[in-house]
Amino acid sequence: MKTYLSGIQPSGLLHIGNYFGAIRQHVALLDEPGEHFYFIADYHALTTVQDAARLRELVFETAVTYLALGLDPAKCALFRQSDVPEVQEITWLLSTVTGMGLLERAHSYKDKLANGIKPSVGLFTYPILMAADILAYDSDVVPVGKDQVQHVEMTQDMAGYFNGAYGEVFRRPEMRLEQAEAMQKVPGLDGQKMSKSYGNDVWIFESGKKLKKRMGKIVTDSRPPEEPKAPEELSLFDLMALFVDAAELADWKERVRKGGEGAPGYGHLKGRIAEAMDATFADARARREELVAHPERVEDVLQQGAATARARARAVRDRAYVACGLR
Ligand code: ADP
Ligand code: TRP
Repeated sequence: MKTYLSGIQPSGLLHIGNYFGAIRQHVALLDEPGEHFYFIADYHALTTVQDAARLRELVFETAVTYLALGLDPAKCALFRQSDVPEVQEITWLLSTVTGMGLLERAHSYKDKLANGIKPSVGLFTYPILMAADILAYDSDVVPVGKDQVQHVEMTQDMAGYFNGAYGEVFRRPEMRLEQAEAMQKVPGLDGQKMSKSYGNDVWIFESGKKLKKRMGKIVTDSRPPEEPKAPEELSLFDLMALFVDAAELADWKERVRKGGEGAPGYGHLKGRIAEAMDATFADARARREELVAHPERVEDVLQQGAATARARARAVRDRAYVACGLR
């Protein structure tokens, strides 16, 4: 039986890029036979969020988001990373076999530096903590987005270094990428990849007037509706494609391509995207409201998840401790 594991950082409210690129895949994977672990990477979030109240709120929101979007706690362990402190013990073991050079090559670290983030030691060693997350549960399959591929490769390397020194302790994980190319790079309001750090994102649970207003910010140009346009060049259609069926999408595109009298203007198209998104997440939004009104239910799920996860991580930690002479 395979073990599936993935983590998500509670570093902001989750957006539709996170949904189509990650969350939806996580929920669907629960139907594959095996054991499933999903955690909220709060230790990792400390490298960027330094506000206790905000972090607590984001951890709660992240849990609620996953549950509202269909992650069934009966089929998986959903937990907080920091509720399994064994992960830190494994992090130390891995750090003693990992070369500085490996970490220096990490794209995510280099990107963050390039974006002006002042690096802490924690940001630098982030991939070791992530490797410990994965190895602590004997994970076989790690579903991730493209941006995390290098981190999983580093995890494979670290498992190899430790096993090379002490024997077969850690299981080598494989990664699983979201198959559909279009889902790996949902565009933001400005046409670049959607990301909370670019301020071009749309919160999954945004609705009504606020959502309309947000979608109104999709960047377009000043060409009038009647001017014929190439739909492939409009990132607006990539967003629309997420929420309407293929026939409707083709129809809008055709009308824009033809132009002329009665062709839809950008405002009209944006309005339709907002409306379709609103409907797509209506049920999930209702489930979210229900969970927000009962935070104790959410905490219960997290505690049960932590108990399951901890039992697994303890066994792996013990195995590693014995192998390297700490016991
Ligand atoms: P952000 O860029 O907003 O900080 P994260 O890096 O926390 O997002 O990503 C969390 C998960 O969501 C990852 O699996 C990532 O691949 C996925 N993801 C993030 N942005 C997008 C996007 N625009 N399109 C598709 N998937 C995305
Ligand atoms: N680094 C991942 C991200 O930013 C989150 C993460 C932490 C993770 N530990 C993990 C993902 C272990 C998969 C497995 O998205």
